[in-house]
Amino acid sequence: MKKALKISEYYHLINHGPCVVVSSGSVPKNEINVSSIAWLTPLNDDPALVIICVASTHYTSKLISKYKEFAINIFGGKHLKTIKICGSVSGTKENKFKKAGITALKGKKTSVPVIKEALATIECALYNKKEYDGINLFIGKVLHAEVEKDLYKSHLNTAKARTPHHLGNGLFVIDGKNIKI
Ligand SMILES: Cc1cc2nc3c(=O)[nH]c(=O)nc-3n(C[C@H](O)[C@H](O)[C@H](O)COP(=O)(O)O)c2cc1C
Repeated sequence: MKKALKISEYYHLINHGPCVVVSSGSVPKNEINVSSIAWLTPLNDDPALVIICVASTHYTSKLISKYKEFAINIFGGKHLKTIKICGSVSGTKENKFKKAGITALKGKKTSVPVIKEALATIECALYNKKEYDGINLFIGKVLHAEVEKDLYKSHLNTAKARTPHHLGNGLFVIDGKNIKI
């Protein structure tokens, strides 16, 4: 069971820099895709803006440019295989939802697929796009953010969520302790 966050709190779900799965396309138009993304950052909380970096050649770039929406799906460390599958084959070649065994649901505030098995999801409308040497910076305006109820109380409990963080070359660290300073 997920709870909705205040839009301005969306960044609590990615402030710690997890490797995520970005979904794109349109559920009603039956054109959907998912891709692993390690390069992303909150840009602002009010208005709530977030940046993802996606290679221009990727199918994900094509679908975000076409439908002007995307969603950021946050997984726990148990789903490393999902991240591997979504990050190693193009959606033009394979149905990654099927291959990874994940379920696409229509977003609450967008037409993009959101992943049922994710711990949390941030739905965005495309706010701006800028290309630098083959990489698209997609700036999303957050329309909805939700997270499993037992993982969030004013912040994401990463000790429970155990989010994966990509170190490079297929190596990950799984989040653990929360420490208050
Ligand atoms: C752990 C991991 C992190 C990745 N991070 C990014 C990223 O931040 N940006 C990017 O463009 N590609 C990234 N990739 C590569 C894409 O996920 C991969 O090329 C994918 O197959 C593209 O799929 P698509 O063509 O269906 O969009 C990553 C892959 C892995 C395994």
